[in-house]
Amino acid sequence: MAGLLRHAGGGPFFVTFKEAFMDIVGICGSLRGQSINRMLLNLAGDCLPAGATLDVLAWDEVPAFNSDVLAKGLPPAVATLRERIRRADAVIIATPEYNFSIPGMLKNAIDWVSRGDDQPLLNKPVAILSATPGPLGGARVQYDLRKVLLFMNAAVLVKPEVFVGFAHQKFDAEGQCTDSTTRGFVQSQMDALVRHTKLQQQLQQLQKLA
Ligand code: FNR
Repeated sequence: MAGLLRHAGGGPFFVTFKEAFMDIVGICGSLRGQSINRMLLNLAGDCLPAGATLDVLAWDEVPAFNSDVLAKGLPPAVATLRERIRRADAVIIATPEYNFSIPGMLKNAIDWVSRGDDQPLLNKPVAILSATPGPLGGARVQYDLRKVLLFMNAAVLVKPEVFVGFAHQKFDAEGQCTDSTTRGFVQSQMDALVRHTKLQQQLQQLQKLA
């Protein structure tokens, strides 16, 4: 998204960054149609500033991880998921908590993405949100997911965290958020993600120049 221009003639070295389009992909940790985490992901997309877009990915055809299958080549659904993440400026994951941890299908997809030196989450800015009908809003899944993503050297956004408890009371039948406090937290996190993404991209450009 940020284009780096290098000016070296005469004066001291300096760099400038050109504002550009920001392409963000969304991954919902739940595959069900009426997922409240998908509603939360859509809310995150609504909170992005002009010039940033959210593309919610369909990844339900990713097969069960099997090294024997990998040895024969990436399955098409895995290759598509990896390339879409690679092209994106940032990733937003909204996920439920299953049995105090990461839903198995989501962990399985991340395991596929994690293979190889060219794994696309390397240095990729990632924001995590979670929603549950219970009171804690997925507090436990977020720390498990954060741990996995940190191991993959993703640039996981630290704060603000967004846990949406009693989430079924905060979205209407059309999936629209009816709770201004929730909307405010998500807005703050999306603002932070955009700043974080710009900073990460500037750091990576400077590393290439160093
Ligand atoms: C759950 N649920 C759940 N909730 C929670 O707060 N902590 C948990 O550990 C679990 N564990 C759990 C396991 C399994 C297998 C299921 C199916 C569900 C409830 C879960 O938060 C609820 O079903 C959400 O609505 C699921 O998110 P989506 O599908 O609405 O996005």
